Amino acid sequence: MSNTFRLYIKNAKQVVLVCNSGERYLTKDGMQKLSVIENGSLVVGKDGLVKAVGQADTIASQFEGASFENVIDASGMCVIPGLIDGHTHPVWAGDRVHEFALKLAGATYMEVHQAGEGIHFTVEHTRQASEDELLSSLKQRLRRMLRAGTTLVECKSGYGLELDTEMKMLAVLEKAKQSLPIGISSTYCGAHAVPKGKTVAEATEDILKVQLPGLREKMVQGELKVDNIDVFCEKGVFDLDSTRAILQAGKDMGLQINFHGDELHPMNSAQLGAELGALAISHLEEVTNEGIAAMAKSKTSAVLLPTTAYILRLPQPRARDMLEAGVIVALGSDFNPNAYCCSMPMVMHLACVNMRMSMNEALAAATINAAYSLGKSHSHGSLEVNKQGDLLLINSSRWEHLIYQFGGHQELIKYVIIKGNIV
Ligand code: NIG
Ligand code: FE
Repeated sequence: MSNTFRLYIKNAKQVVLVCNSGERYLTKDGMQKLSVIENGSLVVGKDGLVKAVGQADTIASQFEGASFENVIDASGMCVIPGLIDGHTHPVWAGDRVHEFALKLAGATYMEVHQAGEGIHFTVEHTRQASEDELLSSLKQRLRRMLRAGTTLVECKSGYGLELDTEMKMLAVLEKAKQSLPIGISSTYCGAHAVPKGKTVAEATEDILKVQLPGLREKMVQGELKVDNIDVFCEKGVFDLDSTRAILQAGKDMGLQINFHGDELHPMNSAQLGAELGALAISHLEEVTNEGIAAMAKSKTSAVLLPTTAYILRLPQPRARDMLEAGVIVALGSDFNPNAYCCSMPMVMHLACVNMRMSMNEALAAATINAAYSLGKSHSHGSLEVNKQGDLLLINSSRWEHLIYQFGGHQELIKYVIIKGNIV
């Protein structure tokens, strides 16, 4: 092994590993007792992977004589894994600040959608926008997420609803991967809404016969690298049968299933996801007890989105019931023109106050379990040897300040580090 390393963070008051035995996810008990080292240090190698993490004295003698490109004295500060955002819609043009006013005045999400606004408004603007325009706004949003501590983020298409615009959105995500350090897991979400003038059957046929084959071709040619497939399974959007057909077709192409379910109405989405071997189902505000049981049995994770329930004044996702049942609970910001939030610390705060999660549970949900929901928990989500060196240096003597304080996190997050590089 070479004797030069990329980064040495020494003498941190706390190093929060989250877990340290190679776990791919945590359920309630594991989430409640996170692995924390008091007075710890950590070393990242030139390959961007964690080489050692442990007691400060032990690491100091282990690495005596080694050289480091960067040394950070973290006295009085804390280290935690980089935050992972399990659900966002960050590629679009056409914000909906006017609609926020309508919703504050009492209009529901579906009333706005069915009046041809909501997602349809953003679709019209996104179809007209150039790749450059979309890339520029996407980069601003991703930089904002980075500053709030997100080091890996799931990003969806879904404001095209036809082949060309969906592919344009995915191509923009591909370009962002080349130009920013943040990790991106891409999701094809052509079934985000039924396009104006089409029936569900027509929209489903277009996805199965036109969009997915078009996507497959671009993936085979190496133009696009897409990880997940998503459908908005909801009353008045895609019903259970069309959802099943689209998700299965995506799975047959090698995509991971990660979809919107049981948000506004109980649709049996949770049972469907469990049956299809989905990696993740998001929202679940209206999940039934049977749905929770099916998810717990199948190891399909729940990506809960506290911002949606907050903004739309929906019932809170049943985090406690899911945790008690043994469901793998993750968190996401749901950043989109309806829920304009780029901050996972804010999401964790809402999860604690409104969904009654503990701070330890919220951090596990926003790290190792969010990594699991993206099929990346072998390499991301905890500070363990051989995992990617993605971490945050928190400028306080207890890591929980990141959740306890709400707003103004730029002051608290001293450094965001990806693959051992300060970004
Ligand atoms: O996850 N529920 C569907 N999709 C998004 C909202 C997208 C939008 O309104 O533009 C969500 O909240
Ligand atoms: Fe969403």
